[in-house]
Amino acid sequence: MAIESVKIIQLPKILDQRGNLSFIEGSKHIPFKIKRVYWIYDVPGGQVRGEHAFIKNQEFIIALSGSFDVILFDGFTEERFHLNRSYFGLYVPNMIWRSLDNFSTNSLGYVLASELYSPDDYIRDINQFKEQKKWQK
Ligand code: TYD
Repeated sequence: MAIESVKIIQLPKILDQRGNLSFIEGSKHIPFKIKRVYWIYDVPGGQVRGEHAFIKNQEFIIALSGSFDVILFDGFTEERFHLNRSYFGLYVPNMIWRSLDNFSTNSLGYVLASELYSPDDYIRDINQFKEQKKWQK
């Protein structure tokens, strides 16, 4: 997957004086069926999370509260995305190296995933990732 397949997706936003509402339906607003949800919270200042790529797993990352950055690398090009609203998120296809940093106080990173958790789906060595991407080109 190349960096061009990464995208910010705007979610439906129902404005209401009683409080706004947004929602996501798998395969409709995001391009995969949701099998798993996890969230990242209480991140101490300056910490970095998620330095790896997935072989198969696709993700949609939302800053439900606060803000943080997602840095994506397709083996050739790197791009940084700042997430700071609960009504849009970042679609990250499989085989993209990603890390998260610049977490604000009380930020909540909410991640929808296309696969169940599997340690075998992780590539944790950046050099191994680069090597695989070189052969895919
Ligand atoms: P991990 O994805 O490795 O986070 P990071 O790359 O930010 O360090 O997950 C951290 C730990 O949590 C790891 O031991 C596996 C566990 N974990 C699960 O058991 N299920 C999950 O869905 C996720 C995302 C992580």
